[in-house]
Amino acid sequence: MKKIIIINGPNLNLLGKREPGIYGAQTFEDFFTELKRKYTGFELSYFQSNIEGELIDKIQEVGFSYDGIILNAAAYTHTSVGIGDAIKAIETPVIEVHISNTFAREEFRHQSYISPNAKGVILGFGLQSYELALQSF
Ligand code: DQA
Repeated sequence: MKKIIIINGPNLNLLGKREPGIYGAQTFEDFFTELKRKYTGFELSYFQSNIEGELIDKIQEVGFSYDGIILNAAAYTHTSVGIGDAIKAIETPVIEVHISNTFAREEFRHQSYISPNAKGVILGFGLQSYELALQSF
């Protein structure tokens, strides 16, 4: 069974109550429970942190043994050379996802340190972005 982890960055623990007009009304925990129920053919896990170094630690920890990482680095997407380097350093393919269409938003969200090292990028489909990424494995 393929081992896939979803890694979420800062403020994504507030999904459901954070700017619902942009990010929707569902909590990630509810969405993740549904996803696990629907995709029983994957060994799915989930990690969230608001701390850049903890995200890098997790990427390093899973990056030589898992079959895939679905990464929403949230605001660190646009700032973190360290997370970009971590993705370069590992063997596990990374799919970058975003809930919103970052290209339809402020210019600072158009820059990504993840994209150059990702296998692919899926954005703008709400929480379905994660599901589409999963289907690619
Ligand atoms: C986000 C987009 C980022 O620009 C933002 O900082 C986030 C969420 C998204 O999923 O749409 O926190 O990654």
